[in-house]
Amino acid sequence: MTNIKNSDINEYFKNKHVLVTGGLGFLGSNLCRNLLHYSPKITTIDNQNALSEGRSFNICNIACKLNVVCGDVLDTAILTPLVLQSDLIYHLACPVRQVENVNITSLHISHSLSILKILEICRLYHHRPLIIFASSWLVYGKSKGNKIKETSATHPITSYGLYKLISEEYCKYYYETYGIPFIIFRISNLYGPRQQIKYNTNSMIGWYIKRAMENSTLPVFGDGCQLRNYIYISDLIEGMTRCIVTHKCVGEIINIGSESSTPFREMVETIISVVGLGRIDYATWPSAWKKQEPGDLVLCINKLKKITGWCPLVGLKTGIQKTWKYYVKNIENYL
Ligand SMILES: NC(=O)c1ccc[n+]([C@@H]2O[C@H](COP(=O)([O-])OP(=O)(O)OC[C@H]3O[C@@H](n4cnc5c(N)ncnc54)[C@H](O)[C@@H]3O)[C@@H](O)[C@H]2O)c1
Repeated sequence: MTNIKNSDINEYFKNKHVLVTGGLGFLGSNLCRNLLHYSPKITTIDNQNALSEGRSFNICNIACKLNVVCGDVLDTAILTPLVLQSDLIYHLACPVRQVENVNITSLHISHSLSILKILEICRLYHHRPLIIFASSWLVYGKSKGNKIKETSATHPITSYGLYKLISEEYCKYYYETYGIPFIIFRISNLYGPRQQIKYNTNSMIGWYIKRAMENSTLPVFGDGCQLRNYIYISDLIEGMTRCIVTHKCVGEIINIGSESSTPFREMVETIISVVGLGRIDYATWPSAWKKQEPGDLVLCINKLKKITGWCPLVGLKTGIQKTWKYYVKNIENYL
């Protein structure tokens, strides 16, 4: 296990040019704000993706000193100089995650090309930045409630999970064949401030907090007993940062989430008790949702803990309180 100090993080990022794709989104904006403590050379590219109701970007998220390029990661002409100036690339840009329909499937699958474009630019120009790819626990597919390790079988049941898995394969191929370094993070259920909360397409926790603040119903499909693994944004960023700084995770796939799983219903009840408003409304599963329900998530995060000594610090109730307080102050930017 590596003992990483703040001075190691400072030293690692000092003078590094960092590119964050999707930096107006939830994870991207929180990450950029954090990275600015270590390096002034942070650039983001974001196309302000606004598919129908599923708007995910938010311009107010990056009210900070950031170099923002408005453009699509699928646009090679815009992407090439950004990739070539970067020592470290976080590839986070991603279409909204809606329940599957024809358009969403095409959007997800075609988005697999975005990581391929980054890798191809690196190959063609003999450039070797470290590439961080934000993958998802949904690459594992339907679970039977057993603990999921990085070595567990992958069998996505959504086009989102499939696009993540295809992107992971591209990373692995370009690493093994051309030596382009990567770290893949398979992220669990992420929540916290700066997430789109108007619709339930990006964040169940954020959307439920908004519904509770309006004293509305919080719909729960089925009995709400399915397990989820909720990780607060600052814990995720700390875990990713430590992993990068150790230099020991290049070419690795890393699960990142919290220590334990929580029944979905308990998460909703916690929101109602923190906000002091709202009520659960149990409903039958709509068939499209039921088809894509992956079952219980019990994630093993021992690999990351062992390598970096990192441990998630923010419990679910505290994280919900912090998130709620953020939206109490900033709600007008998210409606
Ligand atoms: N939020 C979660 O619970 C979670 C869990 C697992 C993995 N992830 C992954 O983490 C990453 C970030 O997630 P998030 O919750 O911050 O998403 P988000 O929707 O909040 O942000 C994504 C950003 O990417 C931008 N974008 C989309 N398509 C683009 C394109 N073609 N070119 C340029 N910009 C584009 C959007 O405008 C948006 O600002 C995603 O890759 C996501 O799949 C998120």
